[in-house]
Amino acid sequence: MTVELPRYQKLENTLRQSIESGRWQAGERLPSIRTLCHQQGVSKITAQHALQRLEAQGLIKARERSGFFVAPGHREFEPPRQASTLAAPKPVSVSQVFQDIMTRSAAFDLLPDQRSEVTPPGIVQLNRSIGRALRRQSVSFQYYDEPAGDPELRSQLALRSARRGWPAEADQFCITSGCQQSLFLALMAVCQSGDVVAVEAPGFYGVLQLLEQLQLKVVEIPASPNSGMDIQALEETLQTWDVKACVVSPAFATPTGAVMPHEARVRLLALADQHQLAIIEDDIYGDSGWLNVPDTLKAIDESDRVIHCSSFSKVLSRDLRLGWVSGGRWHQQIIQLKLTSQLASSRFLQQGVANFIAEGGYSSFLRRYRQSLRQQRDHLLTLLGDWPVPLRATAPLGGLALWVELPPEVDTLSLYAETLKEGIVITPGSLFSVSGKFSNCLRISFAHPWNGPRVAALHRLSELVS
Ligand SMILES: Cc1ncc(COP(=O)(O)O)c(C=O)c1O
Repeated sequence: MTVELPRYQKLENTLRQSIESGRWQAGERLPSIRTLCHQQGVSKITAQHALQRLEAQGLIKARERSGFFVAPGHREFEPPRQASTLAAPKPVSVSQVFQDIMTRSAAFDLLPDQRSEVTPPGIVQLNRSIGRALRRQSVSFQYYDEPAGDPELRSQLALRSARRGWPAEADQFCITSGCQQSLFLALMAVCQSGDVVAVEAPGFYGVLQLLEQLQLKVVEIPASPNSGMDIQALEETLQTWDVKACVVSPAFATPTGAVMPHEARVRLLALADQHQLAIIEDDIYGDSGWLNVPDTLKAIDESDRVIHCSSFSKVLSRDLRLGWVSGGRWHQQIIQLKLTSQLASSRFLQQGVANFIAEGGYSSFLRRYRQSLRQQRDHLLTLLGDWPVPLRATAPLGGLALWVELPPEVDTLSLYAETLKEGIVITPGSLFSVSGKFSNCLRISFAHPWNGPRVAALHRLSELVS
């Protein structure tokens, strides 16, 4: 597919070539804006835009009233590294794998180099809405937003939460830079270094990283691939250990996609009351369900012990970096922690997203997105059905991934290094626990369409595990 470059980019490329080929030497003056317009047949604004971009890249420097000059040392300028030139495969620890996967932007894609160039219509609408909010911005760029975040976005969140059995008010939300930050603020508010936190096993590796960072101890509670945390096992643990908080994903837990049944939720909250536990609800996949969207745990939280954490990352855009937390009895403390660590969130971004939701863009995007997730999950299950090894896979009704259990002798952490040599990035099971368990498991995402190269990558994976 060929794409016509915008004029400023064509001009920028021409000028860069002249500099990098040595045609223009360090310290040499570039043609004036007027000459460039004349020579290249572009407008003044296009020429200025191209020059500003080269200046931002450090290739040229502006001198007051004299024009633009080639910057010294431009020959050391390195082109951006390609994924294939990233660090060579080597023995790894679990946290290195996590960092490595994130560096390759590959948490939800076997082949991160196979990005689609087509922007879905809903995202085009979202981008327009954010663009409009940015253009409407007048003097607000000189002022911080309030720490809890934009009231309109919080009102929209409150309206949406009512659909999931929880009629919240706008002031029960605090906007964050993603669910990871929400979880971080929640743990900071309820725990002190050395405290014990209960988590699901297998469970989200991001939480394990947070516990490590905050010097908290972890007790892993077995989780069923279908119904999530084993509440009986949690009860026994609470009788033995002084646990401060429990992090749980009742709706489409990662990595399995499990949904916690209503009775288990009621028992969980009763245990929280009995043991004075904070329940940190990671609800990031809540909206992704295609058959139904489960209620939030907050819907039955009569003691205000649930801290609800979520974001737009899984169903709208990971790149927005926009999430929220509703802190129950710890809410004011959480706002204070957000203020301390971040001061405020970007106002125009929040306003753009709030308008997108208010105008119905989010709901219609979700309707389409859920259907494509469903098809992609079905396709993945069909492809897994052809694998030559015996395996068990979950078949979730929401979320972005499923959990595959391979024969016990398969070590998916070693496989990670192996597949990387071929540009395939997998998510090994041992990432989802501190116990060393799940070494024969994999989380496989269905967040992207199964096009030819992804099908081939999955097939290759099946050959490597056989
Ligand atoms: C269960 C879970 N919680 C939280 C996060 C972090 O979300 P965010 O990108 O909004 O920070 C993720 C991202 O992978 C996740 O899977």
